[in-house]
Amino acid sequence: MEVIRSAAEMRAWSEQVRCGGAELCLVPTMGSLHEGHLSLAREARRRADVVAVSIYVNPTQFGPGGDYERYPRDEKRDLELLRELGVDCAFIPKSMYPPGDSTFIEVRSKLTEVLCGSRRPGHFAGVARVVAKLFIIVAPHRAVFGLKDYQQLLVVRRLVRDLHLGVEIVAAPIVRDADGLALSSRNRYLTPEQRRQAPALHSALRAVEAAWKAGEDSVHNLVSLGHRTLKEQAPDGRLEYLELRHPATLEGLEFVGWDGALAALAVRFGDTRLIDNILLQHERDA
Ligand code: PAJ
Repeated sequence: MEVIRSAAEMRAWSEQVRCGGAELCLVPTMGSLHEGHLSLAREARRRADVVAVSIYVNPTQFGPGGDYERYPRDEKRDLELLRELGVDCAFIPKSMYPPGDSTFIEVRSKLTEVLCGSRRPGHFAGVARVVAKLFIIVAPHRAVFGLKDYQQLLVVRRLVRDLHLGVEIVAAPIVRDADGLALSSRNRYLTPEQRRQAPALHSALRAVEAAWKAGEDSVHNLVSLGHRTLKEQAPDGRLEYLELRHPATLEGLEFVGWDGALAALAVRFGDTRLIDNILLQHERDA
């Protein structure tokens, strides 16, 4: 596996791959890899001849007082995992921002105003900025993103469309622990008691889904049910939001209609912020 640490080298490596006629798939990450990230790399393997995984804790997507400083970093272990998986290239840039970097890229739309967008000002602008840089440097044919960060996935798709970046965005399912908790690098911050309560995020979403499948289509009622489940099962969690929105536009809904809905929530346990979501989708006719 190639380990590349500069943009110039990365660009040259990608050019070689492309000139040889191979297809290249990128998996952008912030490292501290877990099974969720690895499932993305496996999906990339199925989708292309050559797989690159980037590892970069992007400072511009963390707010002031965010967890940038304490964000877990474990490059040695990450590289071992990627080698085991047969990844072709790990791109680990020292910085993505040259001194005095003054170029900003931002998706300004409903997509970035709601859910995490309204609670983490500047977050998606930081994501858009670094993903655009990564796509320009690596020039992959496609890139894999997890449905765990559903809103991020929509923002990246919009970015690619608007800037004509020509990268196919592949969505990969959420990987969970046996008790339903979505894997996240931040789960390690949880105390044992918080970890015990954390699967409530998924339970609340499943309760919403079950009620919807049983015929409840009022967003108000579905959200109330989600709140109740969370309160019962995660008394120490502070709910930041639990919302149902249109799955493509993230517009607010009163009823879940034919397009289904995204049910998404964010909960804080102490300083640790966890997110999860579930798609309420009608089964398509064969
Ligand atoms: P990070 O949080 O490291 O996540 C990297 C990718 O892994 C994202 O596409 C995310 O959705 C996916 N992922 C994380 N946990 C997952 C899980 N349990 N199941 C499936 N996929 C999961 O997301 C970022 O980094 C950054 O914002 C980044 C896109 C790299 C830009 O800095």
